[in-house]
Amino acid sequence: MDTSALFKISYGLYVLCTRVGEKLNGCIVNTVTQVTNDPVVVAVAVNKANRTADMICESREFTVSMLNIETSFELIKHFGFASGREVDKFQGFPHQLAGEDRLPYLEEACSAYLLCRVIEVKDLGTHLMFFAEVVESKTLSDTPALTYDYYQQHIKPRPGAKATPPRPERWVCDVCGYVHEGPLPKDFICPLCGVAAGHFHREQESAPVAAPKGKTVKRWVCRVCGYVYEGGDVLPPDYICPLCKHGAEAFDYIDVEVD
Ligand SMILES: Cc1cc2nc3c(=O)[nH]c(=O)nc-3n(C[C@H](O)[C@H](O)[C@H](O)COP(=O)(O)O)c2cc1C
Repeated sequence: MDTSALFKISYGLYVLCTRVGEKLNGCIVNTVTQVTNDPVVVAVAVNKANRTADMICESREFTVSMLNIETSFELIKHFGFASGREVDKFQGFPHQLAGEDRLPYLEEACSAYLLCRVIEVKDLGTHLMFFAEVVESKTLSDTPALTYDYYQQHIKPRPGAKATPPRPERWVCDVCGYVHEGPLPKDFICPLCGVAAGHFHREQESAPVAAPKGKTVKRWVCRVCGYVYEGGDVLPPDYICPLCKHGAEAFDYIDVEVD
């Protein structure tokens, strides 16, 4: 089988949220799809290892927050790389409640939400496939939907990419050339020539200086979340990414920059 053919399937990215008692939780999924129109039924496949799967089995209901292109990598990490078994993902995270103020959906980077009631669960071995009827829905913004491809191209950091350290703003004295780094206070006085803040101009940002290149080595890297496998050159065929739970087929053997 040519597994790369599977990468041609297009997906969206969503946060699947649910609630049991006072516990709110959610995780990133790419497997939401509408399967019928009348009634409106969606399907979503959730790994049995995920807390969200256990909670949906119990509550029999969930929301789907449709992420848009304003989604940050921080949000993906928050809901997709951590488990509600260890962290409270909704503690201090901006959200609203749907379905008579019960089930959470996201405020940030969310173009619409669905509220769904489970009608059937199919056991697929590693995953549970939930079929659920949409009982409430609302469009929240016209910002284009986040596709899995857009996430790969524009949001997920490239493996081995090093962040360029932010450069503080620089203010230059017109009279003596003194350089002040950081925001310039209104009452600033040049420590060299004594003129006031009005004699300073902000230096234009020049092209960012490239981070120094480190050594390049070959590593197996998860295409979904960027996790780098450090176990050697041979990736076990039954390997599961410890971060995003995708299997060995989601890994590429590529050059990674190391320090
Ligand atoms: C881009 C991306 C897509 C994902 N898609 C799915 C998915 O379709 N189904 C699934 O069960 N987990 C998926 N995950 C993994 C879960 O979001 C992740 O395991 C999460 O930590 C589970 O949290 P929980 O234990 O609180 O439920 C995905 C993660 C990422 C980063």
